[in-house]
Amino acid sequence: MNETIAKLLNEQINKEFYSAYLYLDMSNYYDELDLDGYANYYMVQAQEERDHALLFMKYMQSNGLKVTLDAIDKPDKVFTDVLDPLVAAAEHERYVTALINNIYHECYAAKDYRTMKFLDWFVDEQMEEEDNADSMISRYKLFGTDAKGLYMLDQEYKARVYAPPSLVIG
Ligand code: FEO
Repeated sequence: MNETIAKLLNEQINKEFYSAYLYLDMSNYYDELDLDGYANYYMVQAQEERDHALLFMKYMQSNGLKVTLDAIDKPDKVFTDVLDPLVAAAEHERYVTALINNIYHECYAAKDYRTMKFLDWFVDEQMEEEDNADSMISRYKLFGTDAKGLYMLDQEYKARVYAPPSLVIG
């Protein structure tokens, strides 16, 4: 495999683990506010991000590529109100979309059709993740600024359950 693509795939493992760390931090923030539903939502999100990291790792392994795990950055976003993590999450997902698009672009240039096919799942996933993140913001703005509305939203987010990714490798 093209060296640049292998390097980008390896870096993406770290980026996905960082995403998990960032969402854990958000979960902790909401837990401190006793918003258990929001805390649950981001705990599940963190699990999904860990799965994304493992999918990249597994894909590299299945292609005989060496995986190098690097240090994960400390989540350093400062949250001062309920809306802050929601906005940070949406910004972060757009950043991740750009990373995936960049790998896809390199694969396209190198005619690496196999990796493009692998990345297709992530392209779809990013559309869903951006849509969900935007919806969290708009729903908060519509209903969450009222105490009763915030309570209802929090109850709803309590129901989110972790499900393993639909993508299977190997
Ligand atoms: Fe792994 Fe939220 O993108």
